[in-house]
Amino acid sequence: AAPRPSTATGTPVDVPIDAMAQQGAFLTTAQGARLTDTDHSLKAGPRGPVLLQDHHLREKITHFDHERIPERVVHARGAAAHGVFAANGAAERICCASLFEKGKETPVFVRFSTVLGSRGSADTVRDTRGFATKFYTDEGVFDLVGNNIPVFFIQDGIKFPDIIHAAKPHPDREIPQAQSAHDTFWDFVTLHTEATAHTLWNMSDRGLPRSYRMMEGFGVHTFRLVNARGKTVLVKFHWKPRLGVHSLLWEEAQIAAGVDPDMHRRDLADAIESGAFPQWDLGVQVFPDTEEQTFEGIDLLDPTKLVPEELAPVQVIGTMTLNANPTNYFEQTEQVAFHPGHLVRGIDHTDDPLLQGRLFSYLDTQISRLGGPNFAQLPINRPHVGVNDMFRDGMHQTAGHAGVAPYRPNSLDGGCPFLAGNKDAALIEYPEAVAGRKVREAPKSFDDHFSSARIFYASLTPVEQAHVAKAYTFELGKCYEKAIKQRAVTVLRQIDEQLAQTVATGLGLPLPGKPSKNVQVLASPALSQVGNRWPCD
Ligand code: HEM
Repeated sequence: AAPRPSTATGTPVDVPIDAMAQQGAFLTTAQGARLTDTDHSLKAGPRGPVLLQDHHLREKITHFDHERIPERVVHARGAAAHGVFAANGAAERICCASLFEKGKETPVFVRFSTVLGSRGSADTVRDTRGFATKFYTDEGVFDLVGNNIPVFFIQDGIKFPDIIHAAKPHPDREIPQAQSAHDTFWDFVTLHTEATAHTLWNMSDRGLPRSYRMMEGFGVHTFRLVNARGKTVLVKFHWKPRLGVHSLLWEEAQIAAGVDPDMHRRDLADAIESGAFPQWDLGVQVFPDTEEQTFEGIDLLDPTKLVPEELAPVQVIGTMTLNANPTNYFEQTEQVAFHPGHLVRGIDHTDDPLLQGRLFSYLDTQISRLGGPNFAQLPINRPHVGVNDMFRDGMHQTAGHAGVAPYRPNSLDGGCPFLAGNKDAALIEYPEAVAGRKVREAPKSFDDHFSSARIFYASLTPVEQAHVAKAYTFELGKCYEKAIKQRAVTVLRQIDEQLAQTVATGLGLPLPGKPSKNVQVLASPALSQVGNRWPCD
């Protein structure tokens, strides 16, 4: 039989979407019928009752009732800006992504955020900051979903619900709202000592950025880049702010949280509006792609580790300028959906088990946050290239797909032209060899929980170190459980004796005994045996 000709010819309704966005001269219903009055319900006489048939009243209130969507489960509070990334060509040798070609300009959208607070919380709390960048490249969307701290709390994505449950407000009173001053947080980070370096960064001035414009950003994980000849390197991404890195003093942050809880979003928007466009250089630390995936003894697959820039300097590969504020917070800042799995040709993942957990999480959460599987069609998420994904239907579908054969190859809708001849421009899934037994285990190299913390602490000036001691003393001072405070001081002895002594004195505690060497090798099975106790207690 002859193939049935397609009857679908394109979008059935040719009304531009903007015409539907509050632009006509008249007030109308959602169906476009003109209204004479939107201030009075339809009633049986001026004193009522209100009539059920008042469709305008019900439509107006029903829409309002559904205006809110769930906030992000983490990073709920944020501010964003549009901009452009200009490549300087330095990465061309190591990566074939068109985004890095010399002189190439790529539009970006960047969302900065706190992690733990709710959407209405204050900007200046002590917390990690998100630094997520969407590059609308001419080869598809690339998201660099990073933080302002180069290490993370945990080494395996399976613990993410646990660290977030511990760090979010207590489930009974929902206190504290957005700070690390509570028992569950300190309980977690002292039982899971892999969190030591990230916690130290939080307790340092980096936990209190002065402005989003003055923050570094880090991809945290190690990524694999592939060049035009198929050769690979491992890299860590860094954003370096042209304004330098600056922090608030604790007292300033406290005052700002009360006087201007919107301080950071106001600062970003005002700067851009006044033409003081913030800029960041994007850089990479580059490592050979060896079988062990280590560099100078540092395991590159362990996201709790940093590689000192003295060992691997950051090489600048381009500059980002943020030059336009969002015109609608909800449409753009709230609905943007980042995902570490959004990669382009030449950029690939590694086997970092935290990154692998993230690859599952973001799409999954966004399906519930953004009401179904079609949020990639929202203007802020739409790639700036053609999309031909064969996905169909679903909640909030806005595309009127043509054709009758939503699969490839087919013999009805023109076959499979996109499969032919364009392999050179397609995503590269690097054919890394994989072998092993199925186990729930971490590699031995993940047992070192303290070296990155020591490196960072040693890099601080005496003033910065004093701020760290004050922060630990203040935050731990809010804990109710003495055992947790003691455990925290024990962990601090692994970073620096003087720091531990100062905090112990500030908390009115004796300095606990020096932990035995195997404390730093406290893996999960040991934890379940000690429960709330530390092996050296
Ligand atoms: C947001 C999960 C680790 C950076 C989110 C969201 C989830 C999530 C569910 C909310 C997304 C949304 O609703 O659109 C996870 C999991 C992790 C993890 C499961 C570990 C297994 C990390 C790490 C970083 C990071 C290591 C930094 C390197 C961010 C940022 C956002 C975010 C910046 C906010 C994105 C935005 O501005 O919309 N994460 N995350 N996350 N995450 Fe993660």
